[in-house]
Amino acid sequence: MMNISIPEFKNRRLALMQHMGTGIAIIPTAAEAIRNRDSHYPYRFDSYFYYLSGFKEPESVLVLIAGDAGKGLAPKSILFCRDKDMEREIWDGFRYGPAAAVAEFGFDEAYSITELDELVPKLLANQSKLFFSLGADAAWDVKLTQWLNQVKAQARTGVSAPDDIADVRKLLDEMRLFKSPAEKALMRRSANIAASAHQRAMQKARAGKMEYEIEAEFLHEFYRFGAQAPAYTSIVAGGANACTLHYNANNAQLNDGDLLLIDAGCELDGYASDITRTFPVNGKFSAAQKDVYELVLASQAAAIANVKPGNHWNAPHEAALDVLVQGFIDFGWCKGTKQAVLETGAYRQFYMHRTGHWLGLDVHDAGEYKDKAGNWRNLEAGMVLTVEPGCYIRPADNVPEHFWNIGIRIEDDALVTADGCEILTIAAPKTVTDIETVMAQ
Ligand code: GLY
Ligand code: MN
Ligand code: MN
Repeated sequence: MMNISIPEFKNRRLALMQHMGTGIAIIPTAAEAIRNRDSHYPYRFDSYFYYLSGFKEPESVLVLIAGDAGKGLAPKSILFCRDKDMEREIWDGFRYGPAAAVAEFGFDEAYSITELDELVPKLLANQSKLFFSLGADAAWDVKLTQWLNQVKAQARTGVSAPDDIADVRKLLDEMRLFKSPAEKALMRRSANIAASAHQRAMQKARAGKMEYEIEAEFLHEFYRFGAQAPAYTSIVAGGANACTLHYNANNAQLNDGDLLLIDAGCELDGYASDITRTFPVNGKFSAAQKDVYELVLASQAAAIANVKPGNHWNAPHEAALDVLVQGFIDFGWCKGTKQAVLETGAYRQFYMHRTGHWLGLDVHDAGEYKDKAGNWRNLEAGMVLTVEPGCYIRPADNVPEHFWNIGIRIEDDALVTADGCEILTIAAPKTVTDIETVMAQ
């Protein structure tokens, strides 16, 4: 299923070449990764390559030549990909091959990947500027150096190599940050699938079940609705496990009276959703759990109210922190004024991560958080970010025992709109009443 149209991919390539102004860009996709012996991990293309091509096959490289309108040289996009190979296709499945790639994906030219080493030095010749993600992959850095050396070796024949190498990711990160209507629609669907999986998990959770049984409910729901993969390793953390931020062993039994924190989202045609919900294994929050949950929920509401154009990136984090710190003081866990607790960082005993990140093709998506002057950048319509405050209470002398081992995070995905934000993950139950009602069904 292709959710982003071919013209949109083509327009992205043209936009990048316009931003480049001149020169050549080389953008390889990801390599296949071996899991053991001759078995591979499920293949995942490189996000930059996919963003520009829509092409999902491994062993592919995109070359963009910006051209020069003044000299009548039109921009050109060239794909290198695997050849058609009926023998391999019997074993591994369909591959486009260069001719079909041109016809189906709108590249100007396509060649066999076996011709890469021969053709790229020719394409590099006399280009003034090269755009490449230097440092992203050592093997590609070596290859690029070899190609450049080949071009430089022709200096006496009058051929020049690019003497200026720029990071192509700088330009692409900024483009990827602003989601098109088709990307927004895709992210809504990705979010809806993940939201329905969270609702299913609430209905399936029972004391005595294992965390991995609940993880299986997510995989069931993701694949059932066409998502190709989890967007990241699901965190299914019962009780004290929720206080380990990146817990993913997912192999403990769920206990009556414990909370269950689940951070799980899916990837739909490349686009991630990222949701965390925390709910009681037995369907009913205890008084202490409810008190902490309502605090985190209030901090999230404050953060969400600050997701709007004109506010800077850190405004939602600051709003969440303000509510959380007041709560930590009210509970008696932190001493002193709000200002003092913020300044000393004493709140980090309970809240040690930030309130969000960009979301898109990558779960922690591309894009700068600060402007060139080093200030937090402003939020603008079309950006997508997560809003995910939490509270994690490890056993400690300064906290009454009935709060120990409570770990709560509430995470939603927000699309910045003209005057605020749209919560893409709204379908995942979140209030105490909604969660307890869904769990009673
Ligand atoms: N699930 C990854 C994150 O929340 O950042
Ligand atoms: Mn997140
Ligand atoms: Mn998450």
